[in-house]
Amino acid sequence: MTELRVVHNRKICDVRQREEYIASHIAGSVNIPLETLLRLTCALPPRHVPITFVASTVAEHDTCRDIASRMMFTDAIVCLFSELAGAKINHGPPLRSLRLWEPNELLLDTISTVERNIGGPAAAFDMGCGTSRDMIFLEQRGWSVFGFDNRKKLVQQAVAMGNLHQCTVDVALFQLKNHFPIQHASMDLVLMSRFLYRPALAEMLQLPRPGGYLMISHFLEGCQDTEVGTPSTVEGYLLRGELTRLCAASDVPYEVCLDEETLLSDGRPMCRFLARRLS
Ligand SMILES: C[S@@+](CC[C@H](N)C(=O)[O-])C[C@H]1O[C@@H](n2cnc3c(N)ncnc32)[C@H](O)[C@@H]1O
Repeated sequence: MTELRVVHNRKICDVRQREEYIASHIAGSVNIPLETLLRLTCALPPRHVPITFVASTVAEHDTCRDIASRMMFTDAIVCLFSELAGAKINHGPPLRSLRLWEPNELLLDTISTVERNIGGPAAAFDMGCGTSRDMIFLEQRGWSVFGFDNRKKLVQQAVAMGNLHQCTVDVALFQLKNHFPIQHASMDLVLMSRFLYRPALAEMLQLPRPGGYLMISHFLEGCQDTEVGTPSTVEGYLLRGELTRLCAASDVPYEVCLDEETLLSDGRPMCRFLARRLS
């Protein structure tokens, strides 16, 4: 197989054993041994991202094919490491910064500004953290992060994702009702991505310290009318301008830095909101 077809502009998931990977691997590939991948498909990128699986044996190759088809990847190549010719080869253990997934886009776009304004990585809280992609991203930049999620399986996967990416993920099983068991004015960054529980929003504004940030990216009204159709009820999506109005009505003063709308590739509108607590 030629180097270009297999590795150019593709995510590369090397499912061989760690020792094989350390001995030699394709530059930029991410090692997720097959037995780990079978439990942790959330470590893979979204299905539209071109991906190459690198296996050691024919049996591993066939299992990767099954995974790619089950996950409905639109452009997946599976190959044996021994078949690869011409690809740039590296040696050594996996780099902790290498990953196949991306954190939420708003976080990616604004974190450098947030860090500059607060004087560097600090303390963050991720509400509804899921499998912890944003927490791992922040931890790897030097933040101290903890998160809550109400699904046991996701909490377990979040911990396993942390192990895979060589960082400690501090996540607890917690069902958000009306109250956060978190000291008010204690967080440098409060993060909420693709999660909404309206009755707790007002209290959420109390969590950042003066000078700290609130960062929310979530589906906007209109998502219910797209082909995907979810979230389908007003409890599940934000209204246009809702978060800015909430800040204006709050007794905690905020400067709204960003309240904009973007479209996902599936056509659903998203709100990107960033606000800084003033005092
Ligand atoms: C769509 S996922 C988003 C995960 C993550 N924030 C991300 O962007 O990848 C929403 C998460 O919120 C969690 N969740 C839903 N309702 C919750 C509640 N009442 N308390 C805590 N977590 C909740 C779900 O288990 C799920 O992991």
